[in-house]
This record gives sequence, C-alpha cells and structure tokens, in this order.
Amino acid sequence: MKIGMLTGGGDCPGLNAVIRAVTRKAIVSYGDTVIGMRNGWKGLLQNESIELKLASVSGILPRGGTILGTSRTNPIGKPDQMQKILDGIRWHELDAVIAIGGDDTLRVCNELHKSGAKVVGVPKTIDNDIAETDYTFGFNTAVQIVTEAIDRLHTTAESHHRIMVVEVMGRNTGWIAVMSGLAGGADAILIPEVPYSVDELCGILKKRHEVKPFSIVVVAEGALEKGQDEPVVQSHKLDEFGHVHLGGIGSVLARQIEDRTGIQTRVTMLGYIQRGGTPTAYDRILGTRFGVRAVEAVHEGEFGRMVALKGERLDLVPLEKAIRGPKRVDEALFKVAEVFFG
Ligand code: F6P
Repeated sequence: MKIGMLTGGGDCPGLNAVIRAVTRKAIVSYGDTVIGMRNGWKGLLQNESIELKLASVSGILPRGGTILGTSRTNPIGKPDQMQKILDGIRWHELDAVIAIGGDDTLRVCNELHKSGAKVVGVPKTIDNDIAETDYTFGFNTAVQIVTEAIDRLHTTAESHHRIMVVEVMGRNTGWIAVMSGLAGGADAILIPEVPYSVDELCGILKKRHEVKPFSIVVVAEGALEKGQDEPVVQSHKLDEFGHVHLGGIGSVLARQIEDRTGIQTRVTMLGYIQRGGTPTAYDRILGTRFGVRAVEAVHEGEFGRMVALKGERLDLVPLEKAIRGPKRVDEALFKVAEVFFG
C-alpha cells in the first residue's frame, strides 16, 4: 500500500512519535510506502511531499514539533480546495491518508471521508478536548511543564507574599488548567466551563492571605467572567478555521485582583512554552501506540475512523462522533480541585 500522512493544526509534543510509529509499522510489518505531506492539508493542495524511509524517522522520538511541518489550512467550504486535495490524493496514488490533528484537522478528514477518500484520523492536541478519546498525546507534556512552572512560582510568591496568576492554554476547555492546578497545588483555578466572579475569587484570596500570605491562581486562556460573552483576545484576526488569537486574561485578572484586594499580584503567561520541546514518556508511548494502530486500521479497511484511547485500551471510533466535541472538563474532577481552593 501507499500511505500518505500529515500533521495539521497547532503542533504538540509527541507528533514525531506518531510519525515514526506509522512509518516503521507500515514499512516493517506490511512493506508499505509512506509519503509525508508537508504542512498539513497544504501539502496535498500544493503537492509538497517527501517519502519517509526508516532512516527518515530514526532519532526523532524525543523531538518536539513535527518533522513534516504543520499549518492551519482549512479547505472546508471551499469546493475547489476540497477537490484539489482529492486530486492530490489521486496524483500521489495514495491508497489511504493518516491525518494527525485536532478537531479542525479531523473535521476536514471527515469531509474527505464523506467524499470517498480513505482516511484514518489520529487525535492530537495539548488541550485534551477531543471527544471520544480519554487522552490526546501532548497533553501530559503540557501539564508537566505547567506543573513545574507552578512549583517555581510558589517559591517566589511565598518570598514576596504575592498572588501569582498563571495563564495557560486551553481554548475551549480547562483540562490543562485543572490538571496542572491539581498537581501544582493551585489556590484557585478558572476554566471556560465554569464562569467565575472576580469578587468571589478575591474573597477566597483575601481569606487565605489571613493565614498564608501568598497564592497561585491558574487561569485558562478561554475562561469567562460571569456575564461575559467573549474571552479576552490578543487579536481579533481570525485564522482559517475562524479562531481568534486568545491570550491576555491573566493580565486583566491580575489587575482586578490587585485593585480589589490590595495584595501585590503578578502574572506569568506560559504560552507556547507549553507546546514546545521534548515529549514526556507518556506522550511518546501514547503517540507510538496511536501510530501503530492507525496503520493497522488502514490495513483493516477501517476508514472514516479515529484512533482513540478508552481506559487502557485503544479503540477505533467514527470521525463523525469524534468531531462532536469539545470534550469538556468533568464536573467531578473540577469538584476535586475545588477542595483545595483558598
Ligand atoms: O489548539 C491548541 C492550542 O494550543 C490552543 O490552546 C491555543 O489557543 C491555540 O492552540 C494557539 O494556536 P496558534 O498556534 O494558532 O496560536
């Protein structure tokens, strides 16, 4: 078989583990040819590709990013581009395409499947918000990075008797905020799923400062104040999938907290640090398992499906169901985090 593979959307640690696993499994177990498309769907639009041999993927397991490059190219709603991608698949004589990406990439994958293309999806995002899979690779690394940052911020917050606001990624959901907040011992966590009140937050912080004169507040970039419709953005400019560039809520919040409590408050925005660099062992293993299963799915003819983690086992789920996300933070999990607020 000749298998095409691409990585789309924001990069994340563990992508190279998937690329390596797909290439090795396809070549060693089935004698396939593997073609890597450059920069997501753009590679199929512009016929930019490279044959991946065993040597091409040697040594990439611990590397962050994606050796194939990525982009947020969106052909949905542009019939000429969708057709061009289908033509690109034919031009490359691909028997199947494995698309590794988040909800946007998987949505394109599903549209192509409906048009008759033979596609298998692999879920990727540091946000962990894709439906039908318990975890996506990249998330564990992001949580580890944020937890380490919170640990560091604790010591300086304590020395200066300050409130530290830590802004983390999570466009629609607060998975990174909740998990890293739990692991790092945050005193308050604000997530998009649970609108917050600045007065209530300040009440919690003031009470805490009567006994412990420092605090850590973790806020997801997409968190909303009660009554607010739109999150704080860095730029209203939309990307091809219609997303604004989030960011800045940490600074807004830090000002509000300092004004209302009189306690010195500082902000740290972790930004792309969360997405860069070497993946954790967990993400390397999950990416590797996803990659191997995706190649098996291709050979089983399980097209229009996404590889998913359910408990400890891998499963194949319809793309149609996987794109019904975002998968929101579990209420019970947030209640556990709340036990430690204040
Ligand atoms: O999709 C994951 C994500 O990391 C979001 O948490 C964040 O809002 C977004 O990507 C940023 O993407 P970009 O690379 O387009 O700035």
